Amino acid sequence: MPHFEYRNGELHCESTSLRTIADAVGTPAYVYSRAALVENYRAYDAAVASHPHLIAYAMKANANLGVVATLAREGAGAEVFSGGELFRALKAGVHPKKILFAGPGKTREEMRDALKADILMFNVESAGELALLDRVAQELGTRAPVALRVNPDVDPETHPYIATGLRSAKFGIPIAQALGEYRKAAQLPGIEVVGVHMHIGSQLTKVAPVADALARVVNLVETLRAQGISVRYLDVGGGLGIRYRDEDVPTPVQYAEVVLSAVRPLGVTLILEPGRSVVGNAGILLTRVLYNKETPDKRFVVVDAAMNDLIRPSLYNAYHEIRSVREVRGRPSLTVDVVGPVCESGDFLAKDRALPAVDEGELLAVMSAGAYGFVMASNYNARPRAPEVLVDGSRYSIVRRRESYEDLIAGESL
Ligand code: LLP
Repeated sequence: MPHFEYRNGELHCESTSLRTIADAVGTPAYVYSRAALVENYRAYDAAVASHPHLIAYAMKANANLGVVATLAREGAGAEVFSGGELFRALKAGVHPKKILFAGPGKTREEMRDALKADILMFNVESAGELALLDRVAQELGTRAPVALRVNPDVDPETHPYIATGLRSAKFGIPIAQALGEYRKAAQLPGIEVVGVHMHIGSQLTKVAPVADALARVVNLVETLRAQGISVRYLDVGGGLGIRYRDEDVPTPVQYAEVVLSAVRPLGVTLILEPGRSVVGNAGILLTRVLYNKETPDKRFVVVDAAMNDLIRPSLYNAYHEIRSVREVRGRPSLTVDVVGPVCESGDFLAKDRALPAVDEGELLAVMSAGAYGFVMASNYNARPRAPEVLVDGSRYSIVRRRESYEDLIAGESL
C-alpha cells in the first residue's frame, strides 16, 4: 500500500510512525494518508480529463469531515445516500451543485433538505419516489433535477451483498421499464429530467460488466433523445475494486477507457461515483495485541479492535492484510485467528491466517481499512468508537476524537 511503508524498522504512514500515533491517541484507531487520498482522487480526475466530468466521491465509503474536505479542496463532488451524508458533505465544504442524492428510500424530509440546498440532482429509484419528489418540489415551488437509476441487469461478478446491478437486486428501475418511467417523469411539473444513472456493484475487478451495462444504458439514452427527452448527465456510478490481497484490479485509466469510449459519442457530462478506490488503500486500522491464547484446537491473537470497529471480515468474510508495526525479520510464522473482545464468535479480523508470531502489547495494522471501516462501526458491547487520524507528511491531525463513555449515554435518560 503506497504511503504505508516500513522505515527504520517501523511501519509509517507517510513520514509519521504508527507507533507515535498509537502513543498519542491510543488504540484502536483509524489512520488515513492525505497523500494517498489526493493521489487516488487525482488519478481519476486525470483519467477522464479529456471529457467534461464530475467525480462525485461516494461518501458512504468514508464520511469523515477531514477526509471529505480534503477531497472537496481537490474539486471533488459528493454522492450522498442520506440526509446525514448530505449534512456532512455541506459541512465539509462540498459545493451543492456537485452533490448527487442517491438511494432507494429517501424520505420527504431528506428531499426537502436537498431541494433547499439546491443540489445537482437526485438519482431516483422507483415510481413511488418519483411521485413523492414531484409533490415535494411543487410544495417548495421548484423543480427537482432527476436522473433515474436504471438497473441494467448484468452480473458484476462480485460478492452478492454488494452486487447491485442484477435483476433481483432492490436497486434501480429495471431497464425494460425505464423508458416508461422517463416518459412519465417528463410530464411531471415538479421534475426536470437531466440524466441517467447506473451503479452495478462494488469491488469490481473486471471492466467487462461495466461495458455491458453501459452499452444498454447508452441505448436507452439514444431512445430517450429520439423521444425528445434530453439527457445532460450520464452517471456510471462507482465500484472499481482495490487490491486487498492479490486481486488484479483495473486502473482508473483502464476503467476510463471503457467508460469514455461509450460515453464520448453522446456528448453528455460524465459523472463517476468512486468510493472504495479513493479511500480504501488510504487507510488502516491500528490495533494492539492484548493476549496470545492457545486452546487444544487453535491459536488466537486477541486484539483491542473488534467487529464493531471493522465489520467487513465478519459480514463479507473479507480479507484484510494484517502487518505488525514493528518490522522483525526471521520470526516464526503461526496460523492464528485474530479476534476482538466482542461477545460474538463472528468477531474476527482474520481467520486461519499465517502471521509472524506477535508479542502481547505489540501493535498491528489492519490494512486497506480506509473504506467501509469507520463508517460501518457501531457501539456494540458499549464500545466507544475509535478515533480517526489524518496524516500529512510528518504531521497528523485527529479528525475525529475517540468517543468517551459519556458520549455513549448522551441522549439517553433514566
Ligand atoms: N454509487 C452508488 C450508487 C453506490 O451504491 C455505491 C456503493 C457507490 C457509488 C460506491 O461504490 P465503491 O466505489 O465504493 O465500490 N460495505 C460494502 C460496500 C457497499 C457498497 C455500496 N454501494 C463493503 O464494505 O464492501
